[in-house]
Amino acid sequence: MAAAKQSPPLNGRPVWAEISLSALKANFRAIRDFVNPPEEKRKTPRKVLAIVKGNAYGHGMGPVAKALEQAGASWFGVTCVAEGKVLRDAGVRGNILVLTSFWPGEEAELLRHNLIPVVILCEQLVLLDHAVTRQRGRKRRAPFPFHLKIDTGMNRLGITPGDMDCFARQLAKCPRLRLDGVMTHFASSGSFSDSVAGRQTQQQEEVFQAALDRLRALGVSPGIVHAANSGAITARPETWGDMVRPGALLYGYHPGYDPAERRAEFEARLPLQPVMSLRTRIVSIREIPAGAGVGYDSGFVAARPSRVAVLAAGYADGVHRSLGNRGKVLVRGQFAPIVGIVSMDVTMADVTDVAGAAVGDVVTFYGTDKEQVHPANRVARSIGTVTSDLLCAVGSRVPRIYKK
Ligand SMILES: Cc1ncc(COP(=O)(O)O)c(C=O)c1O
Repeated sequence: MAAAKQSPPLNGRPVWAEISLSALKANFRAIRDFVNPPEEKRKTPRKVLAIVKGNAYGHGMGPVAKALEQAGASWFGVTCVAEGKVLRDAGVRGNILVLTSFWPGEEAELLRHNLIPVVILCEQLVLLDHAVTRQRGRKRRAPFPFHLKIDTGMNRLGITPGDMDCFARQLAKCPRLRLDGVMTHFASSGSFSDSVAGRQTQQQEEVFQAALDRLRALGVSPGIVHAANSGAITARPETWGDMVRPGALLYGYHPGYDPAERRAEFEARLPLQPVMSLRTRIVSIREIPAGAGVGYDSGFVAARPSRVAVLAAGYADGVHRSLGNRGKVLVRGQFAPIVGIVSMDVTMADVTDVAGAAVGDVVTFYGTDKEQVHPANRVARSIGTVTSDLLCAVGSRVPRIYKK
């Protein structure tokens, strides 16, 4: 059980996500410096809005946002009012932007927790304006800030560029509101191929600029202009605007690039450190003969006498089921293949070639293990998904252990 000393003391089931707050803070600072090159000589530094929605991509919203605040972050992106409330309850004091907007009826909560909504429909202005009136009565206070989202071609959320006039007219009728920022979202910022996706970011950028020009022509100042997600941050400085919105990069991973050969170039431009390591322990070892089946449906049949380790984490913990017979884990500094179908609570790995593998050994599904790195993006790619999907899948029953 010597390997038991490798991990923090834990009671109960041995599965945990180790979160390196120093890696997180280093990534934040690296991004901030990257988007503020000294030669640009901006009057005010370009802001970095930390995307912490989706439980901070599985890392834990409150502790992540608090650590980022210590590193200098003052803008946070959540998806909904409930997530914004989690941040306020954790003591986050910075600006919180509610990216996926609000549902009718949530306006009072937005105001109560001082959350900044993203408006995606002109009709929402009236709802917000009424809520401010109701909450503040006739007292004169500073107008309530919001950001506007423009759909520049993703065909998802946001007001269309053709609706700028309607928006400006509606805004003029809402004196208790203040437009503090205008944003759009890119569909394909990591794509440089000769394809619809490869041409899309530049087209979106042009549509966005034209919509901003129209707003200004209508006498509406857009405030903070922002568009860039991870792919645009690393690869398209022309999209940076006044603020960038990194998600994947913060957690240590570049997004997918097309063509994939460009990955090395972008990774060299902005080196990052993985923040999360998903770990468990070997809880049992089976010695099986050649021909024996392992797990549900005998999803793996041993071709040789084998040592099969049972790991105390399954798909309910975030071990993607499609890693069955495809993935690998780190044990004692060596890779061992995942064998059979991943179950809800356990996973099996073939440790025949890992000398000395024993019950109690720490096993890493992805992340770092001393000097070794088993990057989550490579794991994600091997099963045809994206890193954020893998990280967000870490289950609520998995304790997050924060390391300074
Ligand atoms: C509006 C918005 N901005 C930024 C991001 C961050 O994206 P990424 O993780 O690619 O940086 C997201 C993530 O989905 C988003 O929805």
